[in-house]
Amino acid sequence: MKDKTITVIGLGYIGLPTASILASKGYSVSGYDTNKDIVKEINNGKSHIYEPDLDKYLADAIKSKKMKAYSKLQPSDIYIICVPTPFYENSYPPKPNIEYVISAANEISKVIKSGDLVILESTSPVGTTQKLSETLKNNGTDISSIYISYCPERVLPGNIINEFIKNDRLVGGINKTSSKVTRDFYRDFVDGEIFITDDKTAEMCKLTENSFRDLNIAFANELSIICDQNGINVDELISFSNKHPRVNILQPGPGVGGHCIAVDPWFIVDLDEENSKLIKLSRERNVYKTQWTIKKISNEIKKFIKNHKRPPLISFLGISFKPNIDDLRESPALEIAYHFHKSNNVVVCEPNIDTHESLNLVSIDKVKESDLVVGLVKHDQFLDINFQENLKKINFIDFCGIQENLDRL
Ligand SMILES: NC(=O)c1ccc[n+]([C@@H]2O[C@H](COP(=O)([O-])OP(=O)(O)OC[C@H]3O[C@@H](n4cnc5c(N)ncnc54)[C@H](O)[C@@H]3O)[C@@H](O)[C@H]2O)c1
Repeated sequence: MKDKTITVIGLGYIGLPTASILASKGYSVSGYDTNKDIVKEINNGKSHIYEPDLDKYLADAIKSKKMKAYSKLQPSDIYIICVPTPFYENSYPPKPNIEYVISAANEISKVIKSGDLVILESTSPVGTTQKLSETLKNNGTDISSIYISYCPERVLPGNIINEFIKNDRLVGGINKTSSKVTRDFYRDFVDGEIFITDDKTAEMCKLTENSFRDLNIAFANELSIICDQNGINVDELISFSNKHPRVNILQPGPGVGGHCIAVDPWFIVDLDEENSKLIKLSRERNVYKTQWTIKKISNEIKKFIKNHKRPPLISFLGISFKPNIDDLRESPALEIAYHFHKSNNVVVCEPNIDTHESLNLVSIDKVKESDLVVGLVKHDQFLDINFQENLKKINFIDFCGIQENLDRL
């Protein structure tokens, strides 16, 4: 397999680690991205995203000439599609947008040859692999002479390098031969088990995994609101409930963010709205939790003004969509910080980013100067023992479990 050349299409949070790791495994990898700035940065050996250890893999890949990025798709033997699959913003319920996948297919059809393998890794609505295949066919590709599969990516941002190798994979080919050829490819560098199914089941499986997590978090978020109303510590409640051998409730927070859990359930709703009532409601409950959080913070601000006859200086801890990453996409914490920053005196402590176009970023040691500190993302830096001591002395409200043994909202 190592003699096969690979083109990774879309060099973002998924594509760039994928390309860099495959290069480290000895493959000759071409990266293709429509964003010229990203291509330039990558060829200088610099990553445009933060992911632990990625810098080293990328720098080695570029230095060893095993990998190069291009703004034009390069012909290869294997094509791995990692382009975005967002939804259209102006529709409700949101409708999936697979234009980036189709555009990638159009580019592939210009260079593909007999015996090549096309793998779609982007999280995709059910039927997308078939549409990819139809696009290739309509552009004149003899699809009986190539292999096409869907293989969802399940890596956890912040631990991508490790999980890329360790995780089990699911492969859904458009036919059995495609599944087998794809499985053999992954077997070359994946330590986890590789399971085979059809393309539709694999597409639905990825959506199901994230919808299940969304539903579980919606349950936790609902509990957090009930507990707040009724004077119960939600962390304690969930930790005791999880002692039951068959209960595993996730953690509540100020909402659900990112482009996976906050997006993928909508793809199932779009597929069958009539029968996706619980999935849709979970999404709506998680969106509501952000509004509820905003209301709680507003009440604290009003209380402070009443007591001190002046507005508070507010610090928000974290604006990324989850702990220990720099990704701000669909982040409820970011939405909350935006909500308050224009009409209030607001600073933000986000240790994973250096600059922000509109928010005033401060270092962690400045946080103690604030009148009101709001915990939104449980970054490791906030768990530091000295910082925890500081939190005890200040007016702190916690929406994400930063401070242990503290009643939180
Ligand atoms: N980030 C994650 O944690 C994660 C996890 C699992 C699955 N996914 C899925 O993987 C896919 C990619 O996600 P991501 O987070 O890497 O996105 P991203 O936005 O970080 O990266 C996508 C890249 O694709 C490029 N691009 C867009 N259209 C292109 C085209 N036609 N040809 C070439 N390049 C193109 C963009 O410029 C961008 O650099 C999505 O479907 C996402 O849902 C992401």
